[in-house]
Amino acid sequence: MSTLNLIGTKTIETEHFILRAFRESDGEYMYKNWASDPDVARYVTWEPHTSPEISRELCRIWEEDSKRSDIFNWAMVLKETGEPIGGISVVKLDEKISEADIGYCMGQKWWNKGYMTECFRAVIKFLFTEVNINRISACHHTSNPASGKVMKKCGLRPEGIKRQGAILNGELFDLAQYAILRSDYENKLQPCSFHKS
Ligand SMILES: CC(C)(COP(=O)(O)OP(=O)(O)OC[C@H]1O[C@@H](n2cnc3c(N)ncnc32)[C@H](O)[C@@H]1OP(=O)(O)O)[C@@H](O)C(=O)NCCC(=O)NCCS
Repeated sequence: MSTLNLIGTKTIETEHFILRAFRESDGEYMYKNWASDPDVARYVTWEPHTSPEISRELCRIWEEDSKRSDIFNWAMVLKETGEPIGGISVVKLDEKISEADIGYCMGQKWWNKGYMTECFRAVIKFLFTEVNINRISACHHTSNPASGKVMKKCGLRPEGIKRQGAILNGELFDLAQYAILRSDYENKLQPCSFHKS
């Protein structure tokens, strides 16, 4: 197994987005564009933010974290407006098996435009080709099929359902698990460009 090239949250450019590290000043957009919306938070592990200060404090912490080489956490900045409208990150990095587990969320106003698929594809390319990751995984609540669609469109394969494998608001639920290996990816490269900051 080759070693990981831990280079941290480099800036990535896609057709509609600049993916870059979070800054404290993103807090107001985070609150306004996605984090305060209960529909966005319905199937994720965090509660909707109840004030812009909560979002700002989180972005301040993430800005600090972005100096670390083993953190990969991108604000999705829509080129058209210059505002962050969501986030995509490695929520768990398992260095022993070179695996990155991905999480993402985006404001409701921008759903179903192919945007998360565009960003996830770019992150997959970056992690395989720049960081030397071997396996990229993701999972979703089985009642959140749109997220599974994104995973499939990005080339991840279903690996089964972890029945009652997670808990949300005190209720057990089934978790659909997906992953793509570098060898899968190398057989069908996806178009996108990225540049380093
Ligand atoms: C899930 C989420 C990331 C999807 O982002 P998105 O940019 O809308 O995704 P895309 O447009 O790239 O693709 C969504 C696909 O799901 C499909 N879809 C949407 N709602 C659906 C539903 N209820 N059932 C089945 N498919 C659905 C869309 O038609 C689209 O597929 P298509 O391209 O074949 O038409 C976005 O809805 C989101 O941020 N949700 C809140 C946070 C969240 O749930 N994060 C994931 C946690 S696992």
